[in-house]
Amino acid sequence: MAALTDLALPALRALPPEAAHRASLFALKLLPQGTVAADPSALAVRAWGRVFPNPVGLAAGYDKDAEVVDALFGFGFGFIEVGTVTPLPQSGNPKPRLFRLSEDGAAINRLGFNSQGIAAVARRLTSRNRSRGIVGVNIGRNKDTADPIADYEKGVAALAPYADYLAVNVSSPNTPGLRDMQRKAVLPEFIARLQSARAKATPRRPPPLLLKIAPDLEPQARNEIAEVSLFSGLDGLIVSNSTVTRPTSLKSAQAHEAGGLTGKPLFAPSTALLSEMYRLTGGRLPLIGVGGIASGADAYAKIRAGATLVQLYTALVYEGPGLVARIKADLVRLAARDGFKSIGEAIGAGLQ
Ligand SMILES: Cc1cc2nc3c(=O)[nH]c(=O)nc-3n(C[C@H](O)[C@H](O)[C@H](O)COP(=O)(O)O)c2cc1C
Repeated sequence: MAALTDLALPALRALPPEAAHRASLFALKLLPQGTVAADPSALAVRAWGRVFPNPVGLAAGYDKDAEVVDALFGFGFGFIEVGTVTPLPQSGNPKPRLFRLSEDGAAINRLGFNSQGIAAVARRLTSRNRSRGIVGVNIGRNKDTADPIADYEKGVAALAPYADYLAVNVSSPNTPGLRDMQRKAVLPEFIARLQSARAKATPRRPPPLLLKIAPDLEPQARNEIAEVSLFSGLDGLIVSNSTVTRPTSLKSAQAHEAGGLTGKPLFAPSTALLSEMYRLTGGRLPLIGVGGIASGADAYAKIRAGATLVQLYTALVYEGPGLVARIKADLVRLAARDGFKSIGEAIGAGLQ
């Protein structure tokens, strides 16, 4: 199926970015669901007491409303993250709000959490067969909420029962005030409240709770997040979301648009933050590395920098879903080249 959908890329690229995104979701609902060959055992990774068939995941933001999860497993992903989901449905920012930076292999978005809301997503996740693959659910808050923490608690209460992990998004740049939740003054109470909401919703099998962080954090904030993550019993970090910075190297005409920059220019800063968080947490927390992965070598570099799992999104827009199989094949080759029997042995190997 990946080959077929790769062929559709030029047609999708002729559409404005958000129309292309909708069209791709529509096509995935209609196409017969592909079956993929089982992954080689060298790609299996263990995290939070379960086995991921391979470490390559789809990042949040593509299937925000969990509309095509099972079709996406047909591309060979080891896990899928849906969301960001807000408690109430909301339409997000005015359009246009998504821009391709083709010359830079990048994108800028200021979608602002367009979401069908927790009820619609819970309904879809309830009806799926969970044995098809590992699904993380990324939760956020409504723009106009009076109580941001209560919004996240609602997300946990409604979606923890269907989530293989929960990702707490405190790092999108497009909801004013959202990134403030990463501060030490709020974080411990915030995490504790989410943990108790999770205990209520899923007393028997609580899904791991991960925090998704921004690449633009000051050094002090990085230290504080590492410290709080360890003492609060957070289960992991996702490093990172999009950046509000604009490297001077950008060539595309759309580079001045407001919003979060993703894709190739994000690779270096997000990987630097990843290795720093690995070091600051002493390798004790599983990390998901995301930002600018466009090849097997990029994914491998994230793993060597401390990622247990990786995710991507923007490169799929340029390369098509066949990229997932190419990344996995390269990971097998790169791990073997370096004498690792499995990809898990490479985690953090670049930092020793
Ligand atoms: C169009 C678009 C929408 C996104 N929406 C979300 C979102 O809703 N929640 C979130 O946590 N991250 C979102 N992201 C960020 C991605 O999950 C990821 O962190 C980021 O794109 C870096 O990975 P990449 O360089 O491989 O794209 C979005 C990214 C893009 C390009």
